[in-house]
Amino acid sequence: MKMTAPAPVGLLAELTHRCPLGCPYCSNPLALEGRDGELTTDEWKRVFSEAAALGVLQVHLSGGEPLSRRDLTEIVSHCASLGLYTNLITSGIGMNGKLAKALAYAGLDHVQLSIQDADAASADKIAGYAGAFAKKREVAALITAEGFPLTVNAVIHRANATRAGAMLDMAVALGARRVEIAHVQYYGWAVPNRGQLMPSRAAAEAAVAEVERKKHELAGTIVVDHVVPDYHARLPKACMSGWGRRTLNITPQGKALPCHAAETIEHLTFWNVRDKSLADIWFESPAFNAYRGTAWMNETCRTCERRDIDHGGCRCQALALAGDAAATDPVCHKSPHHARLAEILASDMETASAPYHYRRVPARSLA
Ligand code: SF4
Ligand code: FES
Repeated sequence: MKMTAPAPVGLLAELTHRCPLGCPYCSNPLALEGRDGELTTDEWKRVFSEAAALGVLQVHLSGGEPLSRRDLTEIVSHCASLGLYTNLITSGIGMNGKLAKALAYAGLDHVQLSIQDADAASADKIAGYAGAFAKKREVAALITAEGFPLTVNAVIHRANATRAGAMLDMAVALGARRVEIAHVQYYGWAVPNRGQLMPSRAAAEAAVAEVERKKHELAGTIVVDHVVPDYHARLPKACMSGWGRRTLNITPQGKALPCHAAETIEHLTFWNVRDKSLADIWFESPAFNAYRGTAWMNETCRTCERRDIDHGGCRCQALALAGDAAATDPVCHKSPHHARLAEILASDMETASAPYHYRRVPARSLA
């Protein structure tokens, strides 16, 4: 085996794309993978065993809604037996006291619970699920009662931007030790909903300022991880900490991806854990090697002092906005496509009042 990169430290397992919620900013692909063909329990166990052997330290059990998998405790127990740190990323729908106890017994280390808003009616509308807000309050209590460290995930957009600070207060009230509060990233379902989700520049800036103010106010009470909005920035994020550098995603049916949106880069082929070992995929697959290091970069990024900090930004965003996955991320002010962001912001204001396209798995796959 040719060693072309350091081993990964994290693996995000999309155990299923099934989910009772329909959040319009879901990062899952528009072509959701149905229940038929999901990796079996034994296949997931093999993936996690290979991950541990490869050097992975943390696994993020995600979806869709991972609680939709009836074998979740068995999967957690297997990961714990391998010494992997397990993080459950959940909407909370499907959690109950018995399951929380079973997950604690199985060795689950940490829970991330999503919230949609600090206002109940708005939260349920964003989730596309009546009663979601109330259920999440119950679930947070179950999680903290079992002694799990709790992180609350909150996503800021047009409908809740004025309540960014209130969402931080809500995270404290739910007993979270940490809150990840991020502006919508325009991948997956957020792309067809961009007009409905994009806040005005003034609203986005006010939300950023409010979160920063609260972050200082709440220092010592809760840790606030704040991800600022891409489209209003001058410098890009270090997406995935660099392509094929630290983490990988596995889809419900076993495709190994360098990031959740990688399938939008259509010229790449993604190897499947059913056919290849995780080590082969990580070190040898053309897709994981496509944007590693700096050789693929254009002159602008290759000669830039930030190239080892942001790794040229996001490949999927470069493709979506510049038409070339190897281009400088248009969020960067040095990109010749940077002005495109202002055009998008202006045009998106025109579709702001349209209804959401809710994310839904085809009904026959939900059983
Ligand atoms: Fe990052 Fe490339 Fe912009 Fe430099 S030119 S800041 S490496 S995206
Ligand atoms: Fe694919 Fe950023 S989402 S590289």
